[in-house]
Amino acid sequence: MLELLPETARIEGAELTLAGVRASRLADEHGTPLLVYCAETIRNRVREYREAAPEALIVYGTKAFANVALLRLLAEGDVGADVSTLGELAFARAAGIPGERIVFHGNNKTPEELRAAGKADALVVLDALGESYAAAAAGVRRVLVRLTPGVEAVTHRSIQTAHEESKFGLSPDAAEREVVRARELGLEVEGVHVHVGSQLGRPEESLLALERVLGFLERLDWTPRVLDLGGGLGVRHNRDERLPSVAEFVGPLVERVPAGVGLILEPGRSLVGRAGVTLYRVGSVKESGGVTYAAIDGGMSDNPRPQLYGARYEALLANRADEPPRGVYRIAGKHCESGDVLIEGAELPATRPGDLLAVPATGAYTLALGSTYNGVPRPAVVLVENSEARLIRRRETVEELLRYEA
Ligand SMILES: Cc1ncc(COP(=O)(O)O)c(C=O)c1O
Repeated sequence: MLELLPETARIEGAELTLAGVRASRLADEHGTPLLVYCAETIRNRVREYREAAPEALIVYGTKAFANVALLRLLAEGDVGADVSTLGELAFARAAGIPGERIVFHGNNKTPEELRAAGKADALVVLDALGESYAAAAAGVRRVLVRLTPGVEAVTHRSIQTAHEESKFGLSPDAAEREVVRARELGLEVEGVHVHVGSQLGRPEESLLALERVLGFLERLDWTPRVLDLGGGLGVRHNRDERLPSVAEFVGPLVERVPAGVGLILEPGRSLVGRAGVTLYRVGSVKESGGVTYAAIDGGMSDNPRPQLYGARYEALLANRADEPPRGVYRIAGKHCESGDVLIEGAELPATRPGDLLAVPATGAYTLALGSTYNGVPRPAVVLVENSEARLIRRRETVEELLRYEA
């Protein structure tokens, strides 16, 4: 299981430690559910991207988890931000990321978003026919055009983004018209963007998309300043999943980018996914129709990926991590839906109320997609490094939820 956990994870005595901090200490000091990020694991991923694509501008896909402290940590490695809303832009700016390292996306940007992107001098990705007019009017200076290459990524349908009928991007004909229009309006058209999807397990479809981009450029007889190839590399959530390394995924793409053309990459999940672990406290344990349930104090409000994508997680008992499995437990959340099941069948030691459950690879698209369903406040987030834990997002309170009531 250690291979799914952050790189600093150890079993010390009976207990799981993360960057030298005992899981039980984290839970006692910060409560549960608790999302724990390991700084070293994130730094190592940044280093791998730098080694695989030394000249590229790397921008973090902020949607994976928008957090100012994580964005700052990434910015220490010169990683910028891919943002797609006013909120994500505000997080990137709060982390001190300069406009030159911000890429602004969105298939339906508002005039306000375009003005904010223009003011930040971010690189704006045109994603709709005629968006050049709105962008120019909003004071945007630099743009890319998002191409829909007609490529079906091998991933869950909801996170495919480059197939023929995708809501993202423009067909080659429409993209060509938008390039011409943007230039006429005085926008600096720096290049083309493609992003084929997320949780990708191989580079083939990304390479195919790149070939189609190159064909598009040839048709326009255009050597752009930059190509933005998006993000997409997946993360292992369970031991059955096999995924390429950063070098194996990015290397073939880097090789195929024409000499003299710059590269932007937008990894989200692969930068922070493995770095995150969620700690839950086990409450009730019971039998029902031959199934043994262990219920946790969170669930689909802090991680809806099982419901959205059929994601399959594994878990360990953080407080008795040295014990062998004794049974199979269905890990149920606390929400009022039978479908609120985090793990269908987790092999665990005899599990009792009060145990601490650790779920690896929960750093991306978990809390970011979370909610306050059932009036459950969102959990706290800590960053661990060198035997220290720092709170990077405080736990919400019920009083705060009530503040929205009018
Ligand atoms: C345009 C764009 N870039 C980057 C990303 C980040 O993708 P991932 O987290 O899979 O690396 C996404 C997410 O799907 C995206 O839509």
